[in-house]
Amino acid sequence: MQEVSKLPSILVLHGPNLNILGQREPGIYGTATLAEINQRLQQEAQLHQFTLSFLQSNHEGVLVDAIHSARDQHQGLIINAGAYTHTSIAIRDAIAAVGLATVEVHLSNIYRRETFRHHSYIAPVVLGQISGFGSDSYLLGLQALVRYLSQTTMQAHPNLSSENET
Ligand code: DQA
Repeated sequence: MQEVSKLPSILVLHGPNLNILGQREPGIYGTATLAEINQRLQQEAQLHQFTLSFLQSNHEGVLVDAIHSARDQHQGLIINAGAYTHTSIAIRDAIAAVGLATVEVHLSNIYRRETFRHHSYIAPVVLGQISGFGSDSYLLGLQALVRYLSQTTMQAHPNLSSENET
């Protein structure tokens, strides 16, 4: 039986208060809106023949549910958990539980800010963290994850690669 080829897929999760990017403390977070950031990511993903899905939520449980669902639908996860980065053992446990290749991103450099932002519950369960490059943090995170997945998942599951389309 012929297997149907699918593009590899990444979920981009945005946590609380990121829906108001552009208006929110632009001196810290920049002027790009979330829609603009997502659009840039979409363009970059297309270049690499990856599919992206996006979700923003201000609610911890919604983010946890999305991480659980991602296990069966995506090969990777990019997460800016916003303030939940510094508080949420539940989000950390969800990432650890699903075992998806995950990159943590932050617009601001959390280590140059208030000390309560210096600790990330998420950092120990992700591949890596990118922090401090404004909206470029997302782009750099996507590039890193695409490279990682291209070197790992594609070897394990060659039918995911668009190059195998018939
Ligand atoms: C943030 C940094 C967090 O400390 C903050 O609570 C945010 C945004 C960032 O992208 O720089 O909401 O994750």
